[in-house]
Amino acid sequence: MYGRVKKSRPRQTGMFIFRRYVMHISTRAVQVGLEWDTRTGAVTVPIYQTATFRHPGLGQSTGYDYSRSGNPTRQTLEDGIALLDGGSRGFAYSSGMAAIANLLHLFKSGDHLVVTEDLYGGTCRLFDKIFSQYGLSFTYLDTSDTASVQAAITPATRALFVETLTNPLLKFADLPALSALCRSRDLLLIADNTFLTPYLQQPLELGADITVYSATKYLSGHNDTIAGLVVVKDPRLAEQVYFQQNAVGAVLGPQDSWLVIRGMKTLGVRLDRQQENAIRIARWLNAHPRVRTVFYPGMEEHPNHELMARDARGFGAMIAFEVDNHALVEQVLLKTRLISFAESLGGVESLMTFPEVQTHADIPPELRARLGINNLLLRLSVGIEDVNDLIDDLQNALEG
Ligand SMILES: Cc1ncc(COP(=O)(O)O)c(C=O)c1O
Repeated sequence: MYGRVKKSRPRQTGMFIFRRYVMHISTRAVQVGLEWDTRTGAVTVPIYQTATFRHPGLGQSTGYDYSRSGNPTRQTLEDGIALLDGGSRGFAYSSGMAAIANLLHLFKSGDHLVVTEDLYGGTCRLFDKIFSQYGLSFTYLDTSDTASVQAAITPATRALFVETLTNPLLKFADLPALSALCRSRDLLLIADNTFLTPYLQQPLELGADITVYSATKYLSGHNDTIAGLVVVKDPRLAEQVYFQQNAVGAVLGPQDSWLVIRGMKTLGVRLDRQQENAIRIARWLNAHPRVRTVFYPGMEEHPNHELMARDARGFGAMIAFEVDNHALVEQVLLKTRLISFAESLGGVESLMTFPEVQTHADIPPELRARLGINNLLLRLSVGIEDVNDLIDDLQNALEG
């Protein structure tokens, strides 16, 4: 459907030897890139900083011809994320947005997608301001409510795009139920799993067809790289995604691929610590007199707590909370000294944002109001610092 797809990229057997063993995700993550370089035995994958590759003879290829089409460092990352997610093939892009945009090229004018309403603002902007111009249409709704998803499906619907844990209000989607629905209506299920990562949930195992990540966040984990990843379950669909990746060309460079690989190796230990910190902070905030509401799915009172306990290995390390008056928003953002007032999330450093005017500024105001993204709401990405220092920082900021 999308033209002839080149299949020449070699698979590195060193990566897949681990399929023979049952290994935990954190172990697999450490192994990414290991045993790659059989010539020197280097324990980390080299950075192949090259645009092109010499041909050994006429009509011959080493498997690599040109770095947009395939680069060994990028491929190590692509194979690694495919292994962690349990997919047939992975793809690395220059940002999470580039990864999502690439997936949208799978659709054509007239197609309709059902989408999580509580969505990263940049994704909403991409859908409404760019892809709507090419005849795609989108319906936004609460995808943690499977019945309303079912009601929104039309004959033109081709896919359901969900954030597995939503941004910023941390609602959790019932992927097995959504996947059963998608199968019965022949729809693709695309899961943005940025907030959870394969360490906490593997959407492909729960029935999704494609996962997508802003690898800028937990996967690279150090607030030092912008990157996007996609994993596809079905090898035929993966061929189409590869065609799009090569044709559109928003690929991740070798240096950034290497940084993401390095970050991924510590994914498990980082997230363990971040989650330990997050539950302590969520409970502390919940008891604070100046805090009105806390959204953290690890707290029993969160409406999706039980579902998440069933389908995920943890509750993540993102917290949203409302303070009791707007003046306190600025006070908290500017008076925290350890927690930086900065966009992004998932890195070792704790960061805090004000979604209404930052990450979610591009969501239409009426939708923001309906969702509860208001002028009291702050989003905290909990890092790996000592939790007592983080709590002291919040206390000083909240109490002025
Ligand atoms: C859930 C989610 N998806 C996608 C993106 C876009 O990723 P990037 O900033 O790497 O382009 C973000 C960015 O914040 C995000 O939070």
